[in-house]
Amino acid sequence: MASPLRSRPELTSVPTSDVTGPAYESHNLSVDLDSSEGARRILTGVDLEVAQGEFVSVLGRSGTGKTTLLRVLGGLLDPTADSTVSFRGEPVEGPPEGAVFVFQNYAASLLPWRTIERNVDLGLEGKVSKPEMRQRTAEALALVGLADRAKDYPWRLSGGMQQRVQLARALAVRPSALLMDEPFGALDAMTKSSLQDELQRVQERTGATIVFVTHDIDEAVYLSDRIVVLEGSPATIGHRIDVDLPRPRHQLATKELPAFLKLRRAVYDTIVDVHGQAGDVA
Ligand SMILES: Nc1ncnc2c1ncn2[C@@H]1O[C@H](COP(=O)(O)OP(=O)(O)OP(=O)(O)O)[C@@H](O)[C@H]1O
Ligand SMILES: [Mg+2]
Repeated sequence: MASPLRSRPELTSVPTSDVTGPAYESHNLSVDLDSSEGARRILTGVDLEVAQGEFVSVLGRSGTGKTTLLRVLGGLLDPTADSTVSFRGEPVEGPPEGAVFVFQNYAASLLPWRTIERNVDLGLEGKVSKPEMRQRTAEALALVGLADRAKDYPWRLSGGMQQRVQLARALAVRPSALLMDEPFGALDAMTKSSLQDELQRVQERTGATIVFVTHDIDEAVYLSDRIVVLEGSPATIGHRIDVDLPRPRHQLATKELPAFLKLRRAVYDTIVDVHGQAGDVA
């Protein structure tokens, strides 16, 4: 069987047309992947609609298929033939224009011989004029609070700053959707909180749709409009939880709201297994 894996997407700017309807829509989405015993079904019957500008977190135990789902949305992996997946009304057949990935492993995604601004340029090179590239890169670095480090090198930055550079690179292409796979998973608690707030601010300013994979229940409740929980083997969406907490959110005030605590408990309860263990989800 031909491998359904595809190469990484080209990062392209998205026309800012007024497309109405959902950003992402999947019906009966299933994925088979090769295993030592032949093809194995990883995801089954995933029905998901993500509105434009919505922030949806995907939770689930390790190995349930969160990254797999993100890869399908990013057009990096083909689902089964009877699945349908569309982005802004068009079937996803390869990396859709306007959707970009932000990975957990920021260090590996930055080129050490390029300055910060030249790393951010990467997604724009050959796609926009040089003056436009300079302007977009400067804007993106300002959005993530790194304007003053443009001429520095990634290896001179902290982990949190390096992750900001990766975020700036994604933002420079002016994506309509960000697909984020545990982007803050490797960061310390303080850095994580400040990047969560930057991401909130960026989304408010750009109106981007965000699909965000995380293991962190507090993070999912704090950031999301909605949480979906993958469960089972093969996995499907077992729970959908609306998070209608007021925005903008605040690290202390929001987390002290009774509604926040209630949601946190509700999400936790959906993930804790029959033995009372939350596994790797915390
Ligand atoms: N390229 C691949 N080829 C074959 N099987 C794969 C491949 N990538 C992932 N899998 C399998 O698919 C299942 C889901 O993997 P996936 O990486 O999507 O899980 P995940 O929910 O993101 O886990 P984690 O929380 O640990 O990141 C796992 O059983 C994994 O072994
Ligand atoms: Mg994963």
